[in-house]
Amino acid sequence: MEPKKITAPIIMKMKRQGEKIAALTAYDYLMALFLDDAGIDIILVGDSGAMVFAGYDSTIPITVDEMIYHTKAASRGVKRALLVADMPFLSFQVSTEDALRNAGRFIKEGGAEAVKMEGGEAIAETANRVVNAGIPVMGHLGLTPQSINRFGGYKVQARTEQDVAKLITDAIALEQAGVFSIVLEKIPAAAAKKVTEKVNIPTIGIGAGPHCDGQILVTHDILGLFEKFRPKFVRVYAEMGREIREACARYAEDVKLSNFPNQDESY
Ligand code: KIV
Repeated sequence: MEPKKITAPIIMKMKRQGEKIAALTAYDYLMALFLDDAGIDIILVGDSGAMVFAGYDSTIPITVDEMIYHTKAASRGVKRALLVADMPFLSFQVSTEDALRNAGRFIKEGGAEAVKMEGGEAIAETANRVVNAGIPVMGHLGLTPQSINRFGGYKVQARTEQDVAKLITDAIALEQAGVFSIVLEKIPAAAAKKVTEKVNIPTIGIGAGPHCDGQILVTHDILGLFEKFRPKFVRVYAEMGREIREACARYAEDVKLSNFPNQDESY
């Protein structure tokens, strides 16, 4: 029997029912297939792919066309999870028309079922137009990596009372705009708890403590594939970087020593 397809309304219902939401990132068919089989509720084609897939130093350079390519690939591996595509830097900030056109491309060309946009009050009207066009929108507050140049680094956000108040105002603006969930990134657990209690839509934390309605991490981080840096909030479940290196070194040795291929591996 086919598993029950997760939709944006189901994600909202999970909060009402007190069921935690498990989300991870994927940028290609195979990884999406593995995550879907593992029962992950939301698969995000994140612009983090700019860093962990494409090797850039930030998420800023990745383009809409590149993100659509990744979304298309991931969509071929997903049956059950909700597939969300991240709208990259300047794909929704310039004008509402631009945002609508680009969000539409992620749905029509990419096969996504929702899009994610970074920002609060400032993008609420745009998010509302996209929602009204029939596209579920996920919000993203706290440390929003597309604004890294303004923040001056990947620092913990919402440390002051004033910042927490602004975070709550932003979250409420997004909820009123019709977004179905909000990612809260790298903020104190107490701030995330306050936001989670203030809104009726689910909060999905990344480095935001245990009180969020769900959690998201970058898959390449939890699998130990991305070794450049490991944020404190990442739990590493496998050391696949090491395993890949060891396996490939064994292969290279076999080739060099003429131990591969053997008779069974030949025609
Ligand atoms: O780009 C991304 O992968 C993200 C998540 C980590 C929330 O925005």
